[in-house]
Amino acid sequence: MTTVDDVKVIELPKFTDPRGNLSFVEQLNHIPFEIKRTYWIYDVPGGESRGGHAFRKNQEFIVSLSGAFDVIVDDGRHKKKFELNRSYYGLYVPAGLWREMVNFSTNSLALEFGSIFYDVNDYILNYDEFLNLKNDGEI
Ligand code: TYD
Repeated sequence: MTTVDDVKVIELPKFTDPRGNLSFVEQLNHIPFEIKRTYWIYDVPGGESRGGHAFRKNQEFIVSLSGAFDVIVDDGRHKKKFELNRSYYGLYVPAGLWREMVNFSTNSLALEFGSIFYDVNDYILNYDEFLNLKNDGEI
């Protein structure tokens, strides 16, 4: 069973350059899973929130490419807040945690990598159901 202590901030390589900095990620290296899917969230009105749900199987790796937002993770017992505001940090979120993205700054850009293809059945959208599954040790 995953807990909020399994969520990790991972510092990515950064090549500082007067022409502009460069960072990168590699699957099974900085990202501890094989990437099946990449998506991004953009044009978010300042202050907006997204993604109040948990995944049964999908692991995620989240990068704030531009601007800032907070990721709140919750294992049913404890919550932790991670402030993402640099493009050379990634947040690894294992499956089985309730997670929400909040406080998006205007013009922020969130890049997310997933370990499985999109599957609507992988989402747990109800918090009470999440707690029950967590208590039963099913996620
Ligand atoms: P969703 O994951 O619910 O966004 P959030 O958790 O931030 O509110 O996704 C929003 C919509 O986008 C949803 O209707 C399904 C669709 N979607 C895909 O088709 N493929 C994907 O990989 C993702 C992440 C979402």
